[in-house]
Amino acid sequence: MVEYEHTPIGVDGRRVVVVGGTSGIGQAIALGFAAEGADVVATSRSEAAVEETATAIEERGADTARVTCDVTDRATLDGVREAAVDAMGGVDVVVASQGAISRQSVADVDEDEWDRVTDVALDGVRRVTQAMVPAMADGGAIVNVSSLAARLSMANLPAYSAAKGGVEAFTRASAKELAPEIRVNAVAPGFVITPQNADTYAVGTEKRTRIDERTPLGRVADREEIVGAAIFLASGAASYVTGEVLTVDGGFADSAF
Ligand SMILES: NC(=O)c1ccc[n+]([C@@H]2O[C@H](COP(=O)([O-])OP(=O)(O)OC[C@H]3O[C@@H](n4cnc5c(N)ncnc54)[C@H](O)[C@@H]3O)[C@@H](O)[C@H]2O)c1
Repeated sequence: MVEYEHTPIGVDGRRVVVVGGTSGIGQAIALGFAAEGADVVATSRSEAAVEETATAIEERGADTARVTCDVTDRATLDGVREAAVDAMGGVDVVVASQGAISRQSVADVDEDEWDRVTDVALDGVRRVTQAMVPAMADGGAIVNVSSLAARLSMANLPAYSAAKGGVEAFTRASAKELAPEIRVNAVAPGFVITPQNADTYAVGTEKRTRIDERTPLGRVADREEIVGAAIFLASGAASYVTGEVLTVDGGFADSAF
């Protein structure tokens, strides 16, 4: 008799909150969880985007709630927690995918721009964690969305890069403190086509050509290709994974020539 106790690896029935979940990568993650049988609250500042995404979640048979938030305002995140608990009975999984970017150089980046980016991208992740943990029970999982910019030098992105480096350090710090009840990990996407950068990465542009040539898989990612990594880190398949950063970049970061 071979002894083997199988832990289900799906996310069926899990109760998920995706902050920054009504556009781009976060919206794909929200719809991906719903398609896999989870209930999902997807939130951002935009009422219209929340409505559109909530309808798409319901179309996949999942429960949801319609609630906006601004990650620079902790009270609004407490409101998301309360709405999620009312709608789903609790929170098992939290994904922080909100984004802010600045293209000022190291020499030029000013106080306001630095603060704007780090307030959303770094302090926002800390506020999401602090607001959601009180609703999370044993077995919960947090997935923070980082970026290759946390570890690769990229020109004219100092505030964004510093914020994402902070997200990865905060991910490890909170993984240590919230263990063993809650696992905390990050996904670091490479170059992903989303509405905001569709022009920058359009086929035929110099940037797109350079990325495609340097990427072992030969192309940028569709936003759907980040979903599986987030679901994996939130699922029973990752029950012994915490404090990790999972890079999803088609091999870009680790390739030489
Ligand atoms: N697109 C890429 O190539 C790429 C690569 C690496 C990492 N990322 C990261 O992935 C995440 C999602 O990026 P995206 O490309 O899907 O961008 P996006 O702009 O499509 O999505 C960002 C989401 O965050 C929300 N948001 C912004 N400010 C907010 C605030 N103050 N409060 C609440 N919500 C707020 C937006 O409304 C939107 O729903 C970001 O963290 C980004 O840094 C993106």
